This record gives sequence, C-alpha cells and structure tokens, in this order.
Amino acid sequence: MKFITVDTYKEMSRKAANLIAAQMTVKPTSVLGLATGSTPIGIYEELVERCKNGDIDFSAIRSINLDEYVGLDGESDQSYRYFMNYHLFSKVNINIADTYVPNGKAADIEAECKAYDARIEEFGGIDLQLLGIGLDGHIGFNEPDTCFTGETHLVDLHPSTIEANARFFASKDEVPTKAVTMGMRGIMQAKKVLLVANGPKKKEILEKAFFGPITPEVPASILQLHPDLTVIFSQYE
Ligand code: PGA
Repeated sequence: MKFITVDTYKEMSRKAANLIAAQMTVKPTSVLGLATGSTPIGIYEELVERCKNGDIDFSAIRSINLDEYVGLDGESDQSYRYFMNYHLFSKVNINIADTYVPNGKAADIEAECKAYDARIEEFGGIDLQLLGIGLDGHIGFNEPDTCFTGETHLVDLHPSTIEANARFFASKDEVPTKAVTMGMRGIMQAKKVLLVANGPKKKEILEKAFFGPITPEVPASILQLHPDLTVIFSQYE
C-alpha cells in the first residue's frame, strides 16, 4: 500500500487526477470505476480541465460507478447518475452510453445487481477503481456488517450514512434508506485501487481501515489485501 499524506484538498485532487490521467494515457480504453461524494469533486474538476487542454481523452474510456440510491432516477438531482453527468460526463468527451451507474429505479433490483456484475465481468474487470471512504469505513455503500459481500447488492443505509448524506437533501427524511452498491468482488478485482480522503474528520477511520485489523465491521479494511492500493489523504481540509 502507498499511503500518501498531503496538506490540501487541491494537492490531493491533483495527485489523484495525475494517477487517473496516467492510467488513461497508458491504456486509452481503460475501464474506470468511479465514485461520488464530496471528496472526488476536485478530481473531476482536474480531469475536466486536462480534457479541455487536450491532455487526456475519454473517447474510448468506459466507466462504471460504485452505487446508486434506490428510488431515484437520473433526473433527480440527488441521484448519483445526475452527479456524474453534472460533474464529469457532460464536461468531457466520454460517450454517455459507455458510462454505467446502477439503475436505482429498476423494477427488479436483484436482476439489476446481477446484470451489473455481469457487465464488470464482460469488461474483464476494472482497470482503476476510485474510492472515497465513509466515516463508518464504508466503500461504495458496503456498510459495516458481520461479513463482506462479494456481489453487487441491495443495502440498508447505516444511520450514520443517512445522517452524513442529509446535507445534500432538503431534510433527513428525504434521504433514501436503501441503495444498490457494487460488492467487494468488483472492487477487489480492480487492477488498481485509489482511495481518497479529505480532512481531519477522516483521520480516525483511515487509521482503523489501513492500520488496524481486517474486519467487515470496517469495510475498507479489506483493501489492505489489495496488491495495488494507493491512499491519498489531505490532512487539512
Ligand atoms: P464524502 O463521502 O466524499 O462525501 O466524504 C465519502 C463516502 O461516503 O464514500
């Protein structure tokens, strides 16, 4: 594991964007596993800038996102599909048909989960997976549990996650209570994993996840077993 501590959010975003840009340059047909949340926004801004400058090219990139709220469709401005379109896809030359986010409005969620895993298989796995980390140690929406779940699956969101995400909604009652998330197999089979965390509030969970025991109670701790993991932590916000 490479654990890189930097001072600022800007530095974190630039270093992470450098790694993603390098991946795209070395393999222009890369499959990028992408993440939502406030932490990656600066990375997406950097990537948009580099694409505008002609330094990177998304035309042959395929992307697959980690998760989506159940009950929201892409038109809802709280959905993760909307987030990705807004922060990245609408601003770079990616083919929107090559971008995948779970369908939170699927009539058959179980079938949606199976199809999502089949797609990851069909891609031959993810080349680089970008991750944030929740205050409870979640990655994607793999919440603390008694076991790790391999497949893409339906989850009940942890009360602390609902609390943390309420800031994006008009009220806590509007935060969906369920989500679809890629499981640990999709994440762990990625060839490279890049986890970003911003600010002192994430310090304690990073210590538990990367310097403590591997346990499903701290879902990100499984990444200690990944052969190519980079963590970039900006210690001041
Ligand atoms: P954040 O969320 O980037 O908004 O802190 C991270 C996460 O919950 O994965």
